[in-house]
Amino acid sequence: MKVRIAPSLLAADFARLADALAAAEAGGADLVHVDVMDGHFVPNLTMGPPVVRALRKATRLPLDVHLMIERPERSLSEYLDAGVEYVSVHVESTPHLQRCLDAIRRGGARAGAAMNPGTPTLALASSWRDVDYAVVMSVNPGWGGQPFLEGSVDKVRRLRREAKDADARLTIEVDGGVGPANAAALVAAGAEILVAGTTVYGEPDPAAAIGRLRDAAAARTEASGTR
Ligand code: DX5
Ligand code: ZN
Repeated sequence: MKVRIAPSLLAADFARLADALAAAEAGGADLVHVDVMDGHFVPNLTMGPPVVRALRKATRLPLDVHLMIERPERSLSEYLDAGVEYVSVHVESTPHLQRCLDAIRRGGARAGAAMNPGTPTLALASSWRDVDYAVVMSVNPGWGGQPFLEGSVDKVRRLRREAKDADARLTIEVDGGVGPANAAALVAAGAEILVAGTTVYGEPDPAAAIGRLRDAAAARTEASGTR
């Protein structure tokens, strides 16, 4: 299984998002991760449907929209209408997870369920048939640049095993503090999409940083570190 790299625009210069998209393309990124925060579900506030619509028109790469918003069912259609390819909602943000996942699929996108570090994998136990990908948060969402929570590797391994036991085809994405020091361990545990903000856009040459992360992810090592 080829690992997919998803640079997170959260760590890019918001006044130069087109440059950030160009760097992602130049570096061979597979997806572009877009963090939507509402100032309620998480303390930070980022962007909404108008910016996502503009991003969708500005790159050929698939967009992976990570909704860190309360009651996502109220605004899901606006993101789906923008034509994005992946949308994840947090399991903690809605009493209607199945309805959200179903709406995402009906809207033509892959349906993702994101989980905070404190949320057990059990949160997905009733959703195997409804979910295309799980987003294992390896930091508490809200900001980029936070240190990787080491327990996340075990959580990925556990989720991979539970999905297998349930005979479910599940893609696992990991988001937060991902970098060359933990990429190989995450992949060995079963991660297939690595989100990276600071590791990519915190570097002088983001395109080259994507290549370094891809190389690290391909290395056969169980080593894991902070970034
Ligand atoms: C965190 C966001 C992440 C963030 C990751 O709340 O969901 O996508 O951009 O940034 P880094 O890679 O810097 O931890
Ligand atoms: Zn994210």
